Amino acid sequence: MQEAGYEVVIIDDLSNSELFVLDRITEITGTKPEFHQIDLKDENLVNEFFKSNKIEGVIHFAAHKAVGESVQKPLMYHKNNLMGLLNVLEAMKENEIDHFIFSSSCTVYGQADKMPIDENAPIKKAESPYAKTKQMGEEILEDFVAAFDKNVISLRYFNPVGAHPSALIGELPKGVPNNLVPFVTQTAAGIREFLSVFGSDYPTRDGTAIRDYIYVCDLADAHVKALTRLIQKENKSNLEVFNLGTGIGSTVLEVVKSFEKVNDLKLNYKLVDRRAGDIIEAFADNSKAEKELGWKPETPLEESMRTAWEWQKGLS
Ligand code: WQD
Repeated sequence: MQEAGYEVVIIDDLSNSELFVLDRITEITGTKPEFHQIDLKDENLVNEFFKSNKIEGVIHFAAHKAVGESVQKPLMYHKNNLMGLLNVLEAMKENEIDHFIFSSSCTVYGQADKMPIDENAPIKKAESPYAKTKQMGEEILEDFVAAFDKNVISLRYFNPVGAHPSALIGELPKGVPNNLVPFVTQTAAGIREFLSVFGSDYPTRDGTAIRDYIYVCDLADAHVKALTRLIQKENKSNLEVFNLGTGIGSTVLEVVKSFEKVNDLKLNYKLVDRRAGDIIEAFADNSKAEKELGWKPETPLEESMRTAWEWQKGLS
């Protein structure tokens, strides 16, 4: 956002992130973003922030986001993801802030019947509490734009992976990683003994589940385009939805092989049982984002895997 000329203010509760990221961002862009450590579940602090800062638009990333973990901790996910969203929306209403970008997820589709998945795919029963929080979040936004003169874009991410090309910022989950790629890189770094591949009996080309792994910087570019679309009033309705994926599905084993190939190493992994809450297959039809946002993800899976490993190596 900074590189696109926006002045960025970051709010985070640091429950799954680190303060050193601010210095790394400064190293990359030359500008240290303003930072406020705020728990979005605290309605008063949230409203106080928006009352005392002139904010033109909000990009709402804050949520717990691990499918597997959400099955074990549903109340934590509902409380954090939905209360945080509601407090931000309330503060936007009170402080007349009109533009909102929502970090949504392909998991809102449940197990879609047809691949690739486009934005008109039916919203089926969520397969995890995490997915439910994203479905409910989008329903809340429908009511929000219907009642108030606000403009919203919901970005349905597929699987964000990789790290910034500088290797200065990247994915660093606290504790044991829930997501595939940080577990892969921590296994390669010797932090984890082996990668458990959850399920090898899925009806796919190699038995492991298929996802659409989108490079995180391509994803970031879509956010710049989406917020600019709202600010420049180019949106065609007050609630727009875009799928953000590459349009290419990769199995878990293909991700492992890609990581091994581009980084010239062997990964220790074991095939184990399926993980509760997982779907079999999801990959995007991203043509609407290409047409409306002028967004086209160009980064291949191998480059995402290379940047993920460069980032991990820089941590040790
Ligand atoms: C991917 C695949 C696992 C860990 C993610 C985000 C969610 C949303 C959708 C943005 C699955 C397998 C994983 C491991 C494994 N994105 N796996 N061993 O569940 O698709 O959800 O994308 O909103 O926020 O969490 O991603 O990386 O957890 O799993 O075999 O140790 O890798 O079973 O098939 P998921 P994931």
